[in-house]
Amino acid sequence: MEKSKIGRRFEGKVAIVTASTQGIGFAIAQRIGLEGGSVVISSRRQRNVDEALKKLKAQGIEVLGLVCHVSNAQQRKNLIDQTVQKYGKIDVIVSNAAANPSIDAILKTQEAALDKLWEINVKTSILLLKDASPHLREGSSIVFISSISAFQPPAGLAMYGVTKTALLGLTKALANEMAPHTRVNCVAPGFVPTHFAEYITSNEAMRKSLEEQTLLKRLGTTEDMAAATAFLASDDASYITGETIVVAGGMPSRL
Ligand SMILES: NC(=O)c1ccc[n+]([C@@H]2O[C@H](COP(=O)([O-])OP(=O)(O)OC[C@H]3O[C@@H](n4cnc5c(N)ncnc54)[C@H](OP(=O)(O)O)[C@@H]3O)[C@@H](O)[C@H]2O)c1
Repeated sequence: MEKSKIGRRFEGKVAIVTASTQGIGFAIAQRIGLEGGSVVISSRRQRNVDEALKKLKAQGIEVLGLVCHVSNAQQRKNLIDQTVQKYGKIDVIVSNAAANPSIDAILKTQEAALDKLWEINVKTSILLLKDASPHLREGSSIVFISSISAFQPPAGLAMYGVTKTALLGLTKALANEMAPHTRVNCVAPGFVPTHFAEYITSNEAMRKSLEEQTLLKRLGTTEDMAAATAFLASDDASYITGETIVVAGGMPSRL
């Protein structure tokens, strides 16, 4: 979207976006930053953090970049501590990190892969919020990034899909637990050609089939996901909590 058409909904706000040095997380951080927010980006590799920082700073965005593997308790704590030290508060957390270590059928998935799926896709989101909750401001907002696969987990993405289904439940449960101080919502992206989805979207036949399954006849973009996430994170959504927005071009998800 043209910069001139983007609002300034996050002026004075501080947002942490996990797994945000590329793909959907990067686009979310960029969108919030362009709308005037201070953004805290992170991922596992310093080099990726540095590159993303450079790109965001070049756009005039106020940004702090840290290494944070979401499974590393010390790095999660450091992410929160450094954010509070630099900006004094937290208004928005977008929990975006995920792993998909196996394409096996669920009953063929190794225990180590099952553990990793639950750990990265669900448990660490909770642990990060535990660390962050004392610093969350009145009117703050959490957004989980789930997936269209949450609704009807497809073969090859089945167990991953089930962990994303858990995020829909987590959204409902935490919306209840954190109200009225903090809103908790979720975005379920359709297929977006990022590094994460490359093994699917780089296959021409598979890509065409996915496009055909949408009403809009295209894959999603990282900006599509950022726009929906920014909406839910902003005060424009101040009467919305416990909800999931599917951003999948009309791909079937639910009634
Ligand atoms: N792409 C799709 O089609 C699609 C569809 C539905 C849902 N989603 C969801 O969207 C989210 C983002 O996916 P994406 O497609 O944007 O992926 P991506 O383009 O591959 O980007 C992944 C980002 O996460 C970081 N990262 C990976 N593992 C991490 C970890 N354990 N801790 C911290 N950072 C980590 C990576 O940087 P480092 O390598 O430096 O860590 C990178 O910045 C995920 O939750 C995914 O499930 C994606």
